Amino acid sequence: MTRQGKQQLEKTALLEDAVRISRLAGKLLKERLLTDFSVDHKGEVDLVTEMDRSAQDLIKQEILLKYPDHGILAEEDLHIQGSDGFRWIVDPLDGTTNYAHRFPIFSVSIAVANKNDILCGVVYNPVSEELFTSIQGEGASLNALPISVSKINSLNDSLLGTGFPYNIRESSQTNLDHFKEFALRTQGIRRCGSAALDLCFVACGRLDGFWELNLKSWDIAAGALIVREAGGVTTDFEGSALKMDGSRVLASNGHIHSRMMEVLTGDG
Ligand code: 2AM
Ligand code: CA
Repeated sequence: MTRQGKQQLEKTALLEDAVRISRLAGKLLKERLLTDFSVDHKGEVDLVTEMDRSAQDLIKQEILLKYPDHGILAEEDLHIQGSDGFRWIVDPLDGTTNYAHRFPIFSVSIAVANKNDILCGVVYNPVSEELFTSIQGEGASLNALPISVSKINSLNDSLLGTGFPYNIRESSQTNLDHFKEFALRTQGIRRCGSAALDLCFVACGRLDGFWELNLKSWDIAAGALIVREAGGVTTDFEGSALKMDGSRVLASNGHIHSRMMEVLTGDG
């Protein structure tokens, strides 16, 4: 078998494990959604629930059982270096504020990278049972059916997604300025509360574009790959390659990308 063929098989096997693990974590989150779990504050509006940690523990255990040499970067203070270049980038519960309010839009997000190269990604909403997946170079799927971005080519006809940072009360970068500018130029803006799902909604054409500030790599690693593999574009607000730190995230169907950049940089 060629080296390329071996790499494809490897990516497929990693995705299968990421899917299996995201389904296990999703099942746990769904089962506990209407129970009495504890909620702590990381900041005034930044919550963490007992379930973020339980889902992360389960995911960590499953990854290391099968891949003891792999690294893991996950939101709830988990950073395992690993020894062979592979790294799992995990948000065990994306949409914690929704979850804490029993608002049923949240997801498990898992990407697997080799060095900085994202090989595959999964975003799973256990309530809607929607599983978004992608393997680098092989397209993106929703529940195993191929998906692609929308064909909308004007802001005027577009539906966009966004979110607001947890430090909105302290920071001068509230995103409210961009929200206002887009609200005046589009058909509407949706604020779903899970950035990973927002990205998948761009990938499957429900949203035409998405922007957000101050995200983290675990919020976007899987979703950004899913957008690109569905034919979309991911950059920062100036059009440079998307930085995995998540500080300025712009994702779109490609057709409205430059218009979104103009609005985000104040030229629109
Ligand atoms: P979370 O639910 O995992 O915390 C809501 O706008 C989206 O942005 C959610 O995906 C939320 O992730 C994420 N988010 C908002 N502020 C964030 C921050 N300061 N750090 C990490 N993620 C953030
Ligand atoms: Ca989270």
